[in-house]
Amino acid sequence: MRILVTGAKGQLGRALVSLLTPAHTVTAIDIDQLNITDSAAVMAFFGQAQPELVIHAAALTQVDYCAENPDEALWVNGYGTRNIALACQTIDATLMHISTNEVFDGANIAVYHEYDRPNPINPYGYSKWVAEQMVRDLVARHYIVRTSWLFAHGGRNFIHAILERAHNGQSLRVVVNEVSTPTYARDLAGAMAQLLQTNLYGIYHLVSEGRSSRWDFARYVLDIAGHTNTPIERISSYEYPRASTPPEYAVLRNYAAARQGIVLRHWKEAVRAFCEAEGLIPEGEA
Ligand SMILES: NC(=O)c1ccc[n+]([C@@H]2O[C@H](COP(=O)([O-])OP(=O)(O)OC[C@H]3O[C@@H](n4cnc5c(N)ncnc54)[C@H](OP(=O)(O)O)[C@@H]3O)[C@@H](O)[C@H]2O)c1
Repeated sequence: MRILVTGAKGQLGRALVSLLTPAHTVTAIDIDQLNITDSAAVMAFFGQAQPELVIHAAALTQVDYCAENPDEALWVNGYGTRNIALACQTIDATLMHISTNEVFDGANIAVYHEYDRPNPINPYGYSKWVAEQMVRDLVARHYIVRTSWLFAHGGRNFIHAILERAHNGQSLRVVVNEVSTPTYARDLAGAMAQLLQTNLYGIYHLVSEGRSSRWDFARYVLDIAGHTNTPIERISSYEYPRASTPPEYAVLRNYAAARQGIVLRHWKEAVRAFCEAEGLIPEGEA
């Protein structure tokens, strides 16, 4: 199949491209080849490449940057996705769009199902909610895949940041009142590939099993990496001012994909597998 992946140099994009190649003909693009805000360029590029399937993983993902630059976030994430959706409509391609737990407000201690009502509380979440509506309005054959707290090989993520501070003997303060599910990009890419086999279009929540606070996530990483005696201060998000306001309890439940047998492993298993692959677990403890 001819598949076009946007955001191909990002965390998820890299995992997708390596999973889908060489079984499929993959066109991997990022901002240096095509800026998704340029509607004419997107239309021309898609017309040339003629993908049968587009996986749209490109986005502005720095939530604090989005909070400081809400118009840009809306333009890239919301209207950039409109451009992708219109191009898919024109060439009759299927679109798999990646969205986020941050479309929900996280105000109640309850899990979110796929068709619960979004209510974004920050500019990143709002821009991604606009993107979802563009996809639903413009492309008949679409999947919207929401996920949360991605970690991937290459680049630097929450796991690396926590371990770096511990290695350097720096103090650690991590919030307890932000709860969601860490998800390994490699597992997510595998689940997306399975979902694509179903032709059952609609909204899906593809996240690891289980849930965790930021503090629990950090604690688990330190424990498996041999830093069991390193303390982590529990703080509330009110003691950690930042530009964006993350939802407090935005836990996605995988209801619909699980009914098709598509379930990601527990986040602890996935974090351990990631750390093993990165050589972050001391010998004898892997
Ligand atoms: N990361 C998470 O924890 C998380 C959680 C839930 C959902 N998601 C969603 O999952 C998807 C993939 O996330 P990720 O973590 O893989 O993101 P990422 O690592 O930030 O990758 C996104 C890619 O999109 C590119 N991009 C940004 N603006 C663009 C533009 N105008 N035109 C073309 N490309 C552009 C970025 O380029 P630059 O690096 O040069 O900006 C980057 O290479 C996104 O849709 C995100 O919203 C992510």
